[in-house]
Amino acid sequence: MNAGLILAGGKGERIIGHTLPKQFIEVGGNMIISYCLKTFEQCSDIDIVCVVADEKWRSQIGDYLFADSGISRQHSIYNGLQALRLYAPKYVVIHDSARPRVTVENISEYINASFGFDGATPSLSVTETVYRSYNGKSIASTLNRDELFVGQTPECYDYQMYLAAHEKYADMLANFRGSSEIAVNAGMKIALAKGNPDNFKITTNADLDRFKFIINGEQ
Ligand code: CTP
Ligand code: MG
Repeated sequence: MNAGLILAGGKGERIIGHTLPKQFIEVGGNMIISYCLKTFEQCSDIDIVCVVADEKWRSQIGDYLFADSGISRQHSIYNGLQALRLYAPKYVVIHDSARPRVTVENISEYINASFGFDGATPSLSVTETVYRSYNGKSIASTLNRDELFVGQTPECYDYQMYLAAHEKYADMLANFRGSSEIAVNAGMKIALAKGNPDNFKITTNADLDRFKFIINGEQ
């Protein structure tokens, strides 16, 4: 069996002018989180869904296995992995609730991309020039974008190996960038799968407007 792990423990501080964390804002009559939950439920490769969210939101989210929010995204992931222990899934597919545009095909594709590896993460190639700057004011160097990829979710991992990685690095979870760094540090082989440009993350107000436009059209 495979598990979906939906992350909704963040506060959405880069969205201005809303009191609710972004995943609970309603667009088209539904909370943003409900879009990806529906997709995970429709995917025949997913057998159980665990949601990381504060208790006060749970009755509105629905009837799921829940885990507590953590102090960082990686802590939230660890809480979710622990909640899934009894189910011992083969793969855990971790997804940001702030990415409502994920498709059923994406989920299955990334599970399939994990075969022969210990996991797979969707990524997009970088199309613009990327600079390194240590002060944000002047260029120190220009990076080779052929070697750079932008990560997305859902990310798929061998559940037991990924849980073991979190147990190993439990004291330093806040130091990791993105879900795959801890896996790679623990020696897991993570495949790069082809991302979906339409599966953008709602991070800023402009992203929220983009999603509203997709759902509601021009108002
Ligand atoms: N997340 C989480 N637990 C945390 C932090 C983040 O479950 N402690 C989740 C968010 O709910 C979100 C996803 O991880 O769905 C991606 O993180 P991000 O876009 O950074 O969301 P927030 O942390 O909520 O936003 P911000 O960084 O702007 O405050
Ligand atoms: Mg954040």
